[in-house]
Amino acid sequence: MLYTEKVMDHFTNPRNVGEIADASGVGTVGNAKCGDIMQMFIKVENDIIVDVKFKTFGCGAAIATSSMATELIKGKSIDDALALTNSAVVEALEGLPPVKVHCSVLAEEAIKAAISDYYKRNGIDKEVPEVADHCCGPECHHH
Ligand code: FES
Repeated sequence: MLYTEKVMDHFTNPRNVGEIADASGVGTVGNAKCGDIMQMFIKVENDIIVDVKFKTFGCGAAIATSSMATELIKGKSIDDALALTNSAVVEALEGLPPVKVHCSVLAEEAIKAAISDYYKRNGIDKEVPEVADHCCGPECHHH
């Protein structure tokens, strides 16, 4: 079996799919390796991510990781969400086949992009940390 049960569960029954009309921040990122796209919407109240939704033109692994990532950051503070790495998401899914690990980076990047958008909209002078876990070279995840 290539995919764990957790991956199959989140792929066939993804959580938090959709958009938030009055989102506090929206992040859109592309995966240079495959051309897939991820969009993340966050709703922030008092520094807490009270709601999060995602949409993707991505593969099953991208859907599963985003679904898991949204579950992991919902109800958490912005700082906790910024600390979430793609490896933590992969771990929560009990692993991904190595060729699909680049897909999981989309979720982390999209969350960081959405928070960066939230900062910008609110005039918050803070930098979002770089995505640390590059899987396929520095040219891959910078747009
Ligand atoms: Fe593109 Fe997975 S193959 S995100």
